[in-house]
Amino acid sequence: MSLLALSLSLYTANVITLTYNSVSSFASTSGGTICTLQNSFEPSFVAQGDFVIGGIFPLHYNQEMPDLNCTYRPPPVNCRFDPRAFRWAQTMRLAVEEINQSPELLPNYTLGYKIFDSCAYPLTGQRAALAVLNGLSEDESPMCSSSSPLLAMIGESGSAQSIVVSRILQPFRIPMISYFSSCACLTDRRKYPTFFRVIPNDDYQVRAIAQLLVRFNWTWVGLVRGDHEYGRFAVQGLLRELQGTKVCVAYQEMIPLLYNQQRALEIISLAKVVVVFSAEGEMTPFLRDYMAQNITGIQWVASEAWVTASVFTGSEYYPYLGGTIGFGIRKGHISRLSDYLQTVNPQKYPNNPLVQELWEALYGCSPSLSSASQIPLLAYNAYKAVYAVAHSLIRTVSEVKFTIAGEEVNFDLKGDSIPYYDVINWQRGTSGNIDFINVGLFDGTKPAGDELVIEDDRIMWVPVSVCSASCPSGSRKAVRRGEPVCCFDCVPCDSGKISNETNSIECTFCPENFWSNEDRTSCIPKKVEFLAYDSLGITLTVISAVGACFTIAVFAVFFHHRNTAIVRVNNSELSFFILFALMLCFLCSLVFIGEPTVWSCMLRHTAFSITFSLCISCILGKTLVVLAAFTATRPGNNIMKWLGPKQQRTIIFSCTLFQVVICAAWLIDAPPYPSRNTKYERSKIILECSVGSSLAFWCVLGYIGLQACLCFVLAFLARKLPGNFNEAKFITFSMLIFCAVWLAFIPAYISSPGNYADAVESFAILASSFGLLFCLFAPKCYIILLKPEKNTKQHLMGKEKKYSMSLLPEEL
Ligand code: TRP
Repeated sequence: MSLLALSLSLYTANVITLTYNSVSSFASTSGGTICTLQNSFEPSFVAQGDFVIGGIFPLHYNQEMPDLNCTYRPPPVNCRFDPRAFRWAQTMRLAVEEINQSPELLPNYTLGYKIFDSCAYPLTGQRAALAVLNGLSEDESPMCSSSSPLLAMIGESGSAQSIVVSRILQPFRIPMISYFSSCACLTDRRKYPTFFRVIPNDDYQVRAIAQLLVRFNWTWVGLVRGDHEYGRFAVQGLLRELQGTKVCVAYQEMIPLLYNQQRALEIISLAKVVVVFSAEGEMTPFLRDYMAQNITGIQWVASEAWVTASVFTGSEYYPYLGGTIGFGIRKGHISRLSDYLQTVNPQKYPNNPLVQELWEALYGCSPSLSSASQIPLLAYNAYKAVYAVAHSLIRTVSEVKFTIAGEEVNFDLKGDSIPYYDVINWQRGTSGNIDFINVGLFDGTKPAGDELVIEDDRIMWVPVSVCSASCPSGSRKAVRRGEPVCCFDCVPCDSGKISNETNSIECTFCPENFWSNEDRTSCIPKKVEFLAYDSLGITLTVISAVGACFTIAVFAVFFHHRNTAIVRVNNSELSFFILFALMLCFLCSLVFIGEPTVWSCMLRHTAFSITFSLCISCILGKTLVVLAAFTATRPGNNIMKWLGPKQQRTIIFSCTLFQVVICAAWLIDAPPYPSRNTKYERSKIILECSVGSSLAFWCVLGYIGLQACLCFVLAFLARKLPGNFNEAKFITFSMLIFCAVWLAFIPAYISSPGNYADAVESFAILASSFGLLFCLFAPKCYIILLKPEKNTKQHLMGKEKKYSMSLLPEEL
């Protein structure tokens, strides 16, 4: 503000002289230059004084722009009276009167004023500025008379007008103090060196609005502005503030200077939450069309320019504008204002048309003095502005700093004032009209984050505006291509991932050994699975127990009938061996059930392979005996000598030993171990036995397979052996079944996941054991138990007795 003081101290009469010369029109004649004032422009209020302060107020506002095509004299601007601005003007008068009466401020001088109407329109503002400079009439001009020098200008209201006025005043170094021009553009000291204001710069307001939008989660907003610097800079500023926030701008629109209904309707149809940087002039036709559309449910966010506009307080506006929220310039208390305003009446000013208009606007046909006291928000600014001028006159060098009614008035280096805003909410008044209710405040001097204080419970709401509703936990946002970030789809998290808060951008992986729950909102420990004693395990157990029991039964039958022909003819020792091995086979399937441990894993494959090896070795031995007996019938062949019981045992023993060796090597080198497998199903941990060395595993299986094949081939060769009871036939058959089971097992084993692989192996063991048990022993049991008459040597030998000797083993 030192600049303001300096400017004022520079004031000289020749400034005014210059003023006269520069701004009056020239009408040159051949004899010389004679100045004549071309256009008279009546001031609204005047008072003489030693120093004069100019004042420009939008006492009227123009609803629609006149057609300015410069081909004919423009029609008069269609202006409407604005009581709010009228009060500001009255406040300026009050302030001047107060200063004149004050013994402390400028005691030896009187202040005068010239107040003009700008019609809220830059061109008219320009005329007003010139009129202030020129004096009221030609004979009153400073050149011709001792007209009062112009000290400063209070005004203008709109930034667009202020810019024009400032350019006119600049060459004369006449400072202007605006009470309402908040455009951030006016902070440029090079362009507007004589401009000062008692209203905060809009940079603060847009910051406040951005915080408000974020705070209420209004993420889908439209921006509408008037066609002027104020709107342009405010929208620019707001976009800048919204960068990096979650608020998206659905559209930006401008209410054209030449009002266009079509355009307005398009803007309205898009709207949900709409921030409007405009003033009542442009807003009136816009709102008229909005209301005609009968659209409600728009949340208006009003800029300071219209958030306290009294023209919209009528009850007809309530259904459409109720709930509007915005930042208003802080109101202050001017104790004498209310009384002073009541003195402004048509009786006191019978010749002032404005006073008539005011009364018409305020009271219609029935004037009543009592209701003239609505608190004027911006009047306080006009008041401050006048005081600032007076103070700057005394303290020319220091900064201007003073107190009004207890409040310190201060200016920063850019000539701006301190950023305080009231949060104003439009609520329903008693008569259905709109009341401006103060619901919070924005204090720009506070540290970032603490600036905005809102009492939510006092606010009247309008529905929220979002492009997409928020994503619940368990899902994440998926931005739609080509649309703003506020428009998204909600995609449920993949299994194994979770999101535990709303509006997550990403789903996070669950830690190892954890998996997402059904709702994908939390991680739960993975289910651990193994072949347990559930229905599958129990079935397997029962089957193996049944198998073992059968084997024991057969064993008992054989043992009981060990002296009958059929038992003896078929080498009873081998049969008992086979039965023993089979029982082990049945039992070893049990090792596959239950939680795998280090020991059970080692036991599983080894026990199974050794018992099977033993079993097949015995069968192989038996086949060899049968085959040898068949071959031995040929003269001179005493192969049977080499296949006595001792040799048979040796064969069985060595064949099994081979398998034992493989198993031992396997266990020593890379034994099977329990492992947690998550490969098959990521949501579960499958406890299984890892084979350790798959080479060993396949060797073991391969060896059994080899034995089985060998056995099969030999038995096949011997199948034609004569006799009513041909063992070789049954062995062939059993081996066929055995091989079939194990061939089927391999693909099933490989493709079964985790615990099912164990079940498959267990089933294969059981199936092949049953196959062997039934093929080898069922026919004999049948004869022993049901056809004892056939259980004779003769019958078994059939008619051809020539092989009988060789067929009979050593017992016979
Ligand atoms: N703060 C606004 C400005 O600086 C206030 C204003 C007054 C206004 N009159 C206006 C805004 C007319 C738009 C139009 O301009």
